Amino acid sequence: MKKIILTGDRPTGKLHVGHYVGSLKRRVELQNSGEYDDIYIMIADAQALTDNADNPEKVRSNISEVALDYISCGLNPEKSTLFVQSYVSELTELTFYYSNLVTVSRLKRNPTVKSEISLRGFHSSIPVGFFTYPISQAADITAFKATTVPVGEDQLPMIEQTREIVRSFNSTYDEVLVEPNVLLPDNQACMRLPGTDGKAKMSKSLGNCIYLSDEPEDIRKKIMSMYTDPDHIRIEDPGKLEGNTVFTYLDAFCRDDMFAEYLPEYSCLQELKDHYTRGGLGDVKVKKFLYAVLMEELSPIQARRKELEKDIPAIMDILHQGSRKAKEVAAQTLEEVKKAMKINYFD
Ligand code: TRP
Repeated sequence: MKKIILTGDRPTGKLHVGHYVGSLKRRVELQNSGEYDDIYIMIADAQALTDNADNPEKVRSNISEVALDYISCGLNPEKSTLFVQSYVSELTELTFYYSNLVTVSRLKRNPTVKSEISLRGFHSSIPVGFFTYPISQAADITAFKATTVPVGEDQLPMIEQTREIVRSFNSTYDEVLVEPNVLLPDNQACMRLPGTDGKAKMSKSLGNCIYLSDEPEDIRKKIMSMYTDPDHIRIEDPGKLEGNTVFTYLDAFCRDDMFAEYLPEYSCLQELKDHYTRGGLGDVKVKKFLYAVLMEELSPIQARRKELEKDIPAIMDILHQGSRKAKEVAAQTLEEVKKAMKINYFD
C-alpha cells in the first residue's frame, strides 16, 4: 500500500514557533526522508471560515502568508503538493455523504470541538458548519487516501472520528476508504509549546506568540520578557525548571552542539539546568542563550521568506498548481465513493 501524508493548517494568522516545532519541522523531515509516495499539505480555508464566516478578508490575506511560511521552512512544492482546501470542492461533496454516517451526539462528544465551543463562547448558538467540521476533516484526509496524518495532540479526536467514518463507510458500502494513522510530535516540549507568558496556549489574541516572520529585534524583546520562575529573584536563588518557559523553549530548540558556539561554559542543556536549579545562574544569561539558539534555527527561514515575499504571484501560482493536482486526486476518490454508494447512475 502507498504511504501518503495529508495535513494542514487553518489560515487565520501567520505561523508561529509552536507550529514550527509542533509540526512544520517534522513535515519537512518526513518530506525529505523519501519514505512517502505522496505528501499533501492543505491550507484549510474552508475550515477557517467555519468560525470566521464574518471575516473572509482575514482568511484571504493569510493564504499567501501561510504558504510563505511553509515554503520558507523547507516544504518543497516539487516534493509536496501544497493546496487550498476550498478549490477542491469534491471535499465538500464527500463531507455531505459522510455526514449521514455520523450522529449529532457523537459530534457533541468530540473533546476538541467541545473545548473550542466554550473557548469561542458559542454556547448554544453554534454554527452548523463549525459543529460538523470533524466530518469535513475526515473528507480532507480520506479524499487523498492518506495513511499518515502528522498533527498536534489536539487533533487526535479528529483522526479518531475519521477512522470511525472510514470503518462505517467501508462496512456500509464498499472498501473504498483508508484508515489513517496519526503521527504525533516525538518531543514532549514540542507537543505544545507554551506562549511567552507561560500560558498553555499560544494565541494571537493573547499576544504571546513568536511568529516565524517576526523581526529579530521583536523576537529578542519577546524572549527578554518571557515568563520564567517568579520566585527566582536574585541570581543566587535556586530556580525552578517546571513551568519555566525559557527552559521549555530550550527543550524544544536547543541542541547540545550549540553550546560550543553560544555558551561554551556549559557542554549540554542538562548542565545549564543543574546550575539554574542549584542557584547562581541569572535569567538574562539563559534568555540571551535562548535568543541565539532560536535565531540559529530561524535566520535561514527568515532569509528565504524575505526572498519569497518579493514574488507573491509566484507563490499563488504554486498553490494554484497544487490545488489543481489535489482536485484531480479527490475527484477520483469521489467517483469511487459515489459508485460504492450506488449513486453513479450515468457511468
Ligand atoms: N484542524 C486543523 C487545524 O486546526 C487543520 C486541518 C483541516 C487538518 N483539515 C485537516 C489537519 C486534515 C490535518 C488533516 O490546524
